[in-house]
Amino acid sequence: PYAFFREARQRHPVLWQEFFGVPMWLVTGYKEAEALLKDARFIREVRKADTSGHQPVHLESSPPEVGLMRNMMLFRDAPDHTRLRNLVNKAFTPRMVQKQSSIIESIADHLLDECRARPQHELIRDFSHLLPAFVIAELLGVPKEDQSFFRKWSNVFFQFIDFNPSMERLESMTRDIEDAKRYFETLIETRREHPRDDLISGLIVAKEKYDQLNTEEMVATCLLLVFAGYETTGNLITNGYKLLLDHPSMYDMLRGNAALFPAAVEETLRYEPPILMVYRVVSDDLVFAGQSMQQGQVVMIALAGANRDPSVMNQPEDFNIVRSDCKHLSFASGPHYCLGAPLARLEGEIALRKLVTRLEKPEIIGQPQRKQSVIFRGYESLHIRAEVV
Ligand code: HEM
Repeated sequence: PYAFFREARQRHPVLWQEFFGVPMWLVTGYKEAEALLKDARFIREVRKADTSGHQPVHLESSPPEVGLMRNMMLFRDAPDHTRLRNLVNKAFTPRMVQKQSSIIESIADHLLDECRARPQHELIRDFSHLLPAFVIAELLGVPKEDQSFFRKWSNVFFQFIDFNPSMERLESMTRDIEDAKRYFETLIETRREHPRDDLISGLIVAKEKYDQLNTEEMVATCLLLVFAGYETTGNLITNGYKLLLDHPSMYDMLRGNAALFPAAVEETLRYEPPILMVYRVVSDDLVFAGQSMQQGQVVMIALAGANRDPSVMNQPEDFNIVRSDCKHLSFASGPHYCLGAPLARLEGEIALRKLVTRLEKPEIIGQPQRKQSVIFRGYESLHIRAEVV
């Protein structure tokens, strides 16, 4: 996608063009993308969009179960967005995130210990997606064995969000969403009776104290956390490790200096963002970056394009963990700035440190296949031969 975004940026950082056969605005400049994400004239709620065109999120044509997505802060605008986000923020405290640090360490070690007996590993299945699944399960207070559902549930959401959802699968997708909804309804009930030190109990307290959250919204929030924090973080870990294996000098630098892991995570986020782009809808006729836009038009903000804008950083096409000008929009910006960014950074840092220090003489087997997706950047699988120490 990077060459495509580069060419678009060279024509105009905010360009009206066909994208997958659909005309829309494509923003590839860093400054423009950042300004737009902070600009309240660009909104999330698709129902206000021009429904004649293709929509990135199929809320209008979807079965009622998917209406659940309407209750997620990610798809709302102020004031509902602010209300939902503030409530989750209250439960998603820095203390709760920091508490995860030793938990993430031990999950990562446990997963690698399990790999010890084998000479070959499939990184995604054995490690990089399991780690965030266990972490979110821990955070929400979901029993560990149930995290195996996460993959299925988040895949369903991705199909809705991505550009090529196979609508034939709609029936089974609907069933999966109903299952997920029921699962969290039951868990919320259990926690109401027996509160614990987890996010769901925190949300129940917020609901009872402020009475500003209905049960649908609580269920939607739990699911949002699963799908926002699972695939993305898994892809960050896989993308980062693959980039390090492809850049032996960077890999060696990290082996010699563990203080560089946070920088390696930031550069991975910049260079290979797990979410390539996000969308907004134009709320009213307006002029932005010299372009006249009309109400209802869709704007794709190419985070991956902005992250390689040469007007804000030197040699953006180089992967360099010691660059002094690493800037990225991989967690977006403005009101929807990723709520889980500190947690994702912590997971990425610990995961890369464990992989680099515990896998000896790693070697990629075969040609890793990219995930087929317009929105997400990751791999289908990454086979590695390595001794685990
Ligand atoms: C929102 C990226 C991990 C929770 C977002 C957005 C991006 C993003 C780009 C904004 C979407 C938009 O503006 O349209 C990422 C990446 C991650 C990651 C790249 C991993 C590397 C996480 C984790 C969690 C999380 C671990 C929580 C467990 C959320 C939530 C929102 C969000 C709740 C919605 C915020 C809002 O609408 O106000 N994320 N995320 N994310 N993310 Fe993340």
